[in-house]
Amino acid sequence: MKLNVDYHFHPNLPKNNRRKSEKVGKIWNAFETFNLDAVLVTEHAYKDPAEAYFSLKDQSLKNTKIFPGLECLTSEGIDMIVFSKKESIYDYSELLTPYNFSIDELVKFIAGNKDLNGFITHPYTPGTTSIVKIKGEEIARKHLRSLGAVEVHNSAFDNVLPYLLHLPLSRVRRMKKTSVCPEEFYKDANINFYAGGSDAHHVHEIGSHFRIDRKKDIFHSIINNSGGEMLVQKYSLAKIPYMTSTVFMEWLKKTNIKWR
Ligand SMILES: [Fe+2]
Repeated sequence: MKLNVDYHFHPNLPKNNRRKSEKVGKIWNAFETFNLDAVLVTEHAYKDPAEAYFSLKDQSLKNTKIFPGLECLTSEGIDMIVFSKKESIYDYSELLTPYNFSIDELVKFIAGNKDLNGFITHPYTPGTTSIVKIKGEEIARKHLRSLGAVEVHNSAFDNVLPYLLHLPLSRVRRMKKTSVCPEEFYKDANINFYAGGSDAHHVHEIGSHFRIDRKKDIFHSIINNSGGEMLVQKYSLAKIPYMTSTVFMEWLKKTNIKWR
């Protein structure tokens, strides 16, 4: 039996209550449309991940199981997903504070708290948050070995890549390595679980997911897998401006937090 899991999802909810409730309803409908069995709710640390998770949970009507998490932002500016079976993950103010832990400290914090699980997200992303870009491949691999987990598929660029593949740009190479992480990066690590996620911020981006074997209970399957198959959801190129404007707004927000 298989499980359809999105390991990386941002509700990206509006502030306005009416619009927020509408978006939450659409998110649940999309989860059902794509037969998602489980979604890790991993809003950015600087966008109130607890509020995002509980807003989603409040309107939960369908079969998809959601688990609480967040995408932490380290003092070096590296993104890393931390998640748990328990909602008390949101009591760790250290995790919720952007730029609080260094990547070293964050990996040790996860190792020291057995209720937490984490994985390095998009190690090669061309954005500002790549562990490989900031720390280099050797240190990135050291942390990967400590965590025993890595995001091997990320769908953030999957819908634009077919139009860019012929370009010899280093940025495009990094986008490809974000979509499918090179095996050399993780092959000598002792991996407990591989992750694949949509990195969706908008409803039309929901649907890409990682199909893994189902064992015991759902959460156990999520944190113990020997790989999976990434299923990518295609959407119109006309929707790309939504992604670029969100990336820009998030960059502005992070920059504001960093310098205030
Ligand atoms: Fe993300």
